[in-house]
Amino acid sequence: MQKIPFLDLPAQHAPLRAELDAAIQKVIDKCDFIGGNAVREFEAAFAEFCGTRYCVGVSNGTDAIFLALKALGIGPGDEVITVPNTFIGTSAPILRTGAGIRFVDCHPETMNIDVSKIEAAITHRTRAIVPVHLYGQPADMATINSIARQHDLIVVEDAAQAHGARLHGKPAGSFGRAACFSFYPGKNLGAFGDAGAVVTDDENVAARIRSLRDAGRSSKYEHTEDGYNHRLDTLQAAVLGVKLRYLPEWNQQRRQIAARYHELFAGQDNITTVTEPPGYEGVYHLFVVRVPQRDAVQKKLAEAGIDTGIHYPLPLHLQPVYAGMNIARGRFPVTEAAAERLLSLPIFPGMTDTQVEYVAAELIKAVA
Ligand SMILES: Cc1ncc(COP(=O)(O)O)c(C=O)c1O
Repeated sequence: MQKIPFLDLPAQHAPLRAELDAAIQKVIDKCDFIGGNAVREFEAAFAEFCGTRYCVGVSNGTDAIFLALKALGIGPGDEVITVPNTFIGTSAPILRTGAGIRFVDCHPETMNIDVSKIEAAITHRTRAIVPVHLYGQPADMATINSIARQHDLIVVEDAAQAHGARLHGKPAGSFGRAACFSFYPGKNLGAFGDAGAVVTDDENVAARIRSLRDAGRSSKYEHTEDGYNHRLDTLQAAVLGVKLRYLPEWNQQRRQIAARYHELFAGQDNITTVTEPPGYEGVYHLFVVRVPQRDAVQKKLAEAGIDTGIHYPLPLHLQPVYAGMNIARGRFPVTEAAAERLLSLPIFPGMTDTQVEYVAAELIKAVA
């Protein structure tokens, strides 16, 4: 029996160890622990990677969404559209601005926001759409941006799972007024702790987030608005700067593994994969299938030494913390049906073809 981890960070970091150590050592030697060169250099490199003019490093992906919405003036009385099939790090920062949420169900093939259902969710209070590039697959940004233009809405991408994904050649993060990234350790680009970023082409939005993340400062001793401490940690920026250089290669490996999974699952009626429409170039943060009797299948895979995950077992509108929203089960049928069948398979840079074939063979056996 093989033992297949869900993700293998030690193996990913091992060949980079000397570079990572040197980058960390440099910060320690200079003692520029807050702000400093490492943050500025990473911000410049990540903006370039995303094809945007500005990047503002922040404390994590949740705070990135909060700061982006805040900088764009979203607050009490406003409504923001997003999906119920995502991590709570998408919805919590929307609510933290004081705005309300209008959920829109996902599309059964892509698992991303069903753009045909967005307009029905728009009210006179709606100010923004936060599409999520779930699992690393871009949402349908052309349609989302066109709806946003017609209804005068702001688009803020939740690109927390989609570093380097592309849509007709254009990078995720370059479609909205702003886009938010998480560098949680397990992400395609992961720090050695919490970290995040907002990218944007809008100079004023970037400047406002720079101030908001740093105590509302306009200069060292002058504070022009109520701000926060949501800065990107300098040691994390140093680590991210090293890892960013390897990200294109890692994403390429993830795409190759995904292509192999797709090949191996072709014709398997009991295994539904997520569709990648033409022109979409996902980065497979997760490789998610839908299978009947998911819990039993997951148990069989565990017995075969295969670690899996579920993203996400309980949709946001059914979370206990959101009981006050009074959204009944049945309201978002695609998300709810999927939640019972979703299973995330191991996928990580360095995963061997033998490992991929073993996972696929065991899954095919388990669903038979
Ligand atoms: C889709 C999505 N949105 C938001 C977040 C929040 O990011 P963080 O955990 O860095 O706060 C995450 C990741 O955890 C995520 O996957």
